[in-house]
Amino acid sequence: MANVTVIGAQWGDEGKGKIVDWLASRADAVVRFQGGHNAGHTLVVDGNVYKLSLLPSGIVTGTLSIIGNGVVLDPWHLKSEIEKLEGQGVSITDDNFAIADNCPLILPIHRDLDGLRETAAGSGKIGTTGRGIGPAYEDKVGRRAIRVCDLAHLDSLEPQLDRLCAHHDALRAGFDQPPVDREALLAELREIAPFVLQFAQPVWKRLKKVRKAGARILFEGAQGVLLDIDHGTYPFVTSSNTVSGTAASGSGLGPNSTGFVLGIVKAYTTRVGSGPFPTELSDEVGQRLGERGHEFGTVTGRQRRCGWFDAVLVRQSCAISGVTGIALTKVDVLDGLDKVKICTGYRLRGKIMDYFPSHAADQAEVEPIYEEMDGWSESTAGARSWADLPANAIKYIQRVQELIETPVALVSTSPEREDTILVRDPFVD
Ligand code: IMP
Repeated sequence: MANVTVIGAQWGDEGKGKIVDWLASRADAVVRFQGGHNAGHTLVVDGNVYKLSLLPSGIVTGTLSIIGNGVVLDPWHLKSEIEKLEGQGVSITDDNFAIADNCPLILPIHRDLDGLRETAAGSGKIGTTGRGIGPAYEDKVGRRAIRVCDLAHLDSLEPQLDRLCAHHDALRAGFDQPPVDREALLAELREIAPFVLQFAQPVWKRLKKVRKAGARILFEGAQGVLLDIDHGTYPFVTSSNTVSGTAASGSGLGPNSTGFVLGIVKAYTTRVGSGPFPTELSDEVGQRLGERGHEFGTVTGRQRRCGWFDAVLVRQSCAISGVTGIALTKVDVLDGLDKVKICTGYRLRGKIMDYFPSHAADQAEVEPIYEEMDGWSESTAGARSWADLPANAIKYIQRVQELIETPVALVSTSPEREDTILVRDPFVD
């Protein structure tokens, strides 16, 4: 079973990009299964820089790349991302790229609603990426979405459009906005339809064939488990299931096909947007982590909040997602600190907790219990074997592994592909 599912085990931005690129270069197919263009990563191939937010990572190197049904697809963004890559010499055809024909669309009305709600929420806002992700998933679950396959039947779309617009008109009225301009929306859909349809197909069928041929499939998760709509820090979450199980439901393959679950874990913690964050640091250590770790959002450019490693959260994420092994990233950001801390439990109103509670008020109130360890003054950047690491960095990694009850499969020590300590190859399970 040589397939790999990659997921983020924190609040996203764990450094999935480098690991996914390395795995994608060895995969025969790469599949996105949730989220949309709220994700973002930068690929460097042969010195050329490519920015992806919707397309799977295999696209740049010509590996079969698939957008599964679990994704929400903004067709106009898709077009501009493809055109940009084509301008950089990347070839994208129906041979190396496919979109699930049952994938729901993100429409301009979803982006509108995302923005209107965030503005109205003021300081209570979620801090979304503003891309219409939440409203598009709402329409999917509400059974009124326009899907990719509908683009081939625009002449009979009227009843569906009526249902969708009736819902949105009521919501828009609440924000003093005019009703949806249906004619304009239909005209935009007519214009974009041929572009999207050239790639549309039942991808579950294509994946079945790929799997039968014994190909290696990489399932590329976006965001992180703590942003999962069920298991995350609700309501400060994204609107999809970001856990590993979604690789199956969001692609159309069974759970016995998703293989090794690789959880990407950063050696400290960050989050972008609002919501609870027990180990957040607002002192100079937090600032240092942000500066050394270049903690700015790839999609929105926002500064990320930074804090110590929270072993309680990651242990929970690994359990919920059935993580087989983790890739620990950005250890080098901790270089040069006298002391490093790991959160090993919480105190909530005098009670000790070994898990993160579900209720928002409890989540906001838990106080971290720390274990302090000696730091290391030597650089870990670029290490490629355990022997290259200072003893205290090894102790730190081993302690992380122990506390999260999940083995380390690899340690990444710089953005360069080769700067990796490989303990267990996820594709050779
Ligand atoms: P949405 O996905 O745009 O609805 O945003 C909901 C929450 O998820 C916000 O806190 C965002 O900052 C966060 N989020 C969405 N995508 C990402 C990502 O790729 N990395 C990190 N945070 C993300």
